[in-house]
Amino acid sequence: MPKVTFIIDGETQTVEFEHGEVPYSHHGKPESFLDVAKHFHIPLEHACGGSCACTTCHVIIKEGEQNLSGMEDDEADRLDTAWGLTARSRLGCQAVIKGDVVCELPMYTRNYVQEGGGIQLGKSDRKERKTQEATP
Ligand code: FES
Repeated sequence: MPKVTFIIDGETQTVEFEHGEVPYSHHGKPESFLDVAKHFHIPLEHACGGSCACTTCHVIIKEGEQNLSGMEDDEADRLDTAWGLTARSRLGCQAVIKGDVVCELPMYTRNYVQEGGGIQLGKSDRKERKTQEATP
């Protein structure tokens, strides 16, 4: 049962899932970070529904890189446009989890503005949303 740890704004959330019980949400490839995150309400963001057309689902692998599917050309091409790209970056909707892994969500994500054709770079509002959700 793969254990997936997400580091978000300095805090960790760990979930476990059973192979074969996914896809959970049809967001990204089955058993990808995005698919698993959506099921467990982890705030991994996406702007294209997991079709490798944005970089909003960018994650940085901290441990367990060997437990992920290999990177295909379309993911590599798309990742080239990600804010804060690292040698251990992956797209959360494309990287399929095969074993224990630890990833960090970058502080910023790059959202594509569909109508204007431009690119909007914004600080994640994950923490603010979490605070709002916690407020009665
Ligand atoms: S959700 Fe758009 S590329 Fe992953």
